[in-house]
Amino acid sequence: PGEPARITIRGDQAGPTYDRRIFTQFAEHLGNGIYGGLWVGNDRRIPNTRGFRNDVVAALKRLGVPVIRWPGGCFADEYHWREGIGPKAKRPVKINTNWGGVTEDNAVGTHEFMDLTEQVGAEAYISGNVGNGSAREMAEWVEYMTQRAGTLADERARNGRKEPWKVPYFGIGNELWGCGGNMRPEYGADETKRFATFIKSPEGSRVLKIASGANSDDYNWTEVMMREAMRHIDAVSLHYYTVPGGWAPKASPTQFTESEWAETLGLTWKMEELIAKHSAIMDKYDPQKRVWLAVDEWGTWYGQDPGTTPGFLRQQNTLRDALVAAINLNIFAKHADRVKMTAIAQMVNVLQAMILTDGPKMVLTPTYHVFEMYKPFMDGTVLPITIDSPYYSRDKWAIPAVSASAVRGKDGAVHIALSNADPNRPAPINVALTGVAGTTITGRVLTAPTMTAHNNFDNPNAVVPATFTGAQIANGTLSVTLPAKSVVMLDVK
Ligand code: AHR
Repeated sequence: PGEPARITIRGDQAGPTYDRRIFTQFAEHLGNGIYGGLWVGNDRRIPNTRGFRNDVVAALKRLGVPVIRWPGGCFADEYHWREGIGPKAKRPVKINTNWGGVTEDNAVGTHEFMDLTEQVGAEAYISGNVGNGSAREMAEWVEYMTQRAGTLADERARNGRKEPWKVPYFGIGNELWGCGGNMRPEYGADETKRFATFIKSPEGSRVLKIASGANSDDYNWTEVMMREAMRHIDAVSLHYYTVPGGWAPKASPTQFTESEWAETLGLTWKMEELIAKHSAIMDKYDPQKRVWLAVDEWGTWYGQDPGTTPGFLRQQNTLRDALVAAINLNIFAKHADRVKMTAIAQMVNVLQAMILTDGPKMVLTPTYHVFEMYKPFMDGTVLPITIDSPYYSRDKWAIPAVSASAVRGKDGAVHIALSNADPNRPAPINVALTGVAGTTITGRVLTAPTMTAHNNFDNPNAVVPATFTGAQIANGTLSVTLPAKSVVMLDVK
């Protein structure tokens, strides 16, 4: 081990809330994200409740998933909600033009998705169709879901649901600069205003409107959206993927060198700069921070696993992804005053998934375990933190070896998240804790012997959290040594 990293945590000061909605998950009609991964319909071989597989729903419940974003993604701007209600046999079979050109039989529509949210115990974040839909179609969808009375509410009741649902979050299209319509920001902002105008909240509850936001460092998009449409929206989104090696050809999720490990983590650290700069633009127009920045697509994007259907974006998930998740979750803590929601892409079987399935088999990924370890962060109070870490460098990449964040949880305990990006060396850390009365530390660690370690159906426990006892506290200083390439969560009570 080299020089210790130095961290200070101010337990006597309160930062913003670490919003539970930062743990939102994205589930798109893409590959086996919905069909096969969540929905098995009448397939009796896989135990299910009204079509949703019990094993996956139980795993998601254990995570306490707060919100699910659906039905896209790019899928959203070609989705017509009326095609997904009523008797299944009458629903049209379409082509999923964005994702593999496969058929989409609309078996999962509004009623099924809402059932899923209720089974998981999550809130609904629905993305509407601006791209090839109309403002009327979007308004009627919201009315169909949320109103107590009227022709659309009656139709909903005839389709099996008398009580209106709550739709707390509604997206005004997705990636309007790309698959959502290839719009200029000025046109996208105008369309956002027009569509948002007709989304009416039902009596007694609010539908928060989330504008389609920037691609990565397109700061002009945020500038124009805030300048033109801010009064009509509650959040503006941001999409940023970690794509080592670039878009084509994409890199392997499991076979990579240390150089690619460093590149991946280096690219993920870009999230820090992106949020800081987009937030600074938002601050100009909205110093009160009423409008959230919703990073509603983030995560790794590699090449697909060999033998999987083209366009299905099915990728394995290694210890590297665990580090990516932890670094991002720590960055979100730093910006929790503006970032109230983020959604990892995606929930099951797609991109940086929580869960992988194959027929009746299911496995939890290292990313799942990181989310589970961070659960105490939900709605905790972010504690001010300073971090002075040695750098881990490899080839042209250099990043702080240690990433960290801390909250005072709803349970009263202080939870300290630490990760060590260096795959070769442990990271000793001295943490000065001010205003933290507790002296009892418990901890868990996620690590593995190799960078490429991952869980699969034959070996589901290659990367799972273990008890961590390597931290001591004395005279207000916490001393800890993180193993190489690890994520650690400490609880001080
Ligand atoms: O998550 C996969 C795709 O990435 C989404 O459909 C789109 O919004 C983004 O480009």
